[in-house]
Amino acid sequence: MSTAVMNLNSNRASRFYDTTIGKKVVMAVSGVVLFGFVVGHLVGNLQIYAGADKVNHYAKFLQSMPGPLWGARIVLLLCLILHVWSAFELWLLTREARPVAYKKKSNPNSSYASRTMIWSGPIIGAFLIYHLLHFTFGTVLPNGLARLENGDVNVYQNMIVGFSQPLVTLFYAIAVSLLGVHLYHGLWSMFQSLGVSHPSYTPRFKQFAAAASILISVGNISIPLSVLAGFVR
Ligand code: HEM
Repeated sequence: MSTAVMNLNSNRASRFYDTTIGKKVVMAVSGVVLFGFVVGHLVGNLQIYAGADKVNHYAKFLQSMPGPLWGARIVLLLCLILHVWSAFELWLLTREARPVAYKKKSNPNSSYASRTMIWSGPIIGAFLIYHLLHFTFGTVLPNGLARLENGDVNVYQNMIVGFSQPLVTLFYAIAVSLLGVHLYHGLWSMFQSLGVSHPSYTPRFKQFAAAASILISVGNISIPLSVLAGFVR
């Protein structure tokens, strides 16, 4: 491809991103990728119920493919940056369009989930930082990362130690419930941003968004609660 054609394409892409719909599409597409990660991560974590060996083998399996693992991490990080950046720019655009705040705050057309997007996002971001310090770096685990005799990270033991602390489990429960609310509105808006909206399918999209976000929240909350309650030890 010649430089002129590449320049033309990148100009088109940047002009598209400058529009409100362009930012919404970037937010929707990056959100789908992040959603895929959340589902995959939950399926992996639920193996805690199958015992220590199972979940530790799963973690070892992921670590045994450094190429794809780092590829996925870079794509996820890029999607996270694009998601946060486009959300921030859309928020600025809405503020500029409405310099004087509405007298009556509650807008009957905006759901609880949509009104919480702007603060559920940053709280989930804070959770993510804590979570990485918790289980990836072990910085906030009482004794740092536990390891097996062969030196591999003992993911199972780390979760048991981590979630035996009631305040930590409470924080996870709150953050993951907020993630559910965020996903509900996010999935629902994604269908609209990508133009997949039709009176006959719309109720189904809403049902899908509700079912997916509830399942993800309940699945995620079940892990710290099961540890704290002593069902998994
Ligand atoms: C209560 C539910 C959760 C549990 C039990 C959990 C557990 C874990 C564990 C044990 C690790 C370390 C894995 C390893 O070292 O191999 C990890 C990593 C991670 N978790 Fe979670 N997680 C939960 C929820 C979440 C959520 C909701 C998100 C995103 C919003 C998330 C994002 C991540 C990321 C980005 C990593 C780093 C992955 C990497 O090293 O590439 N986790 N999680």
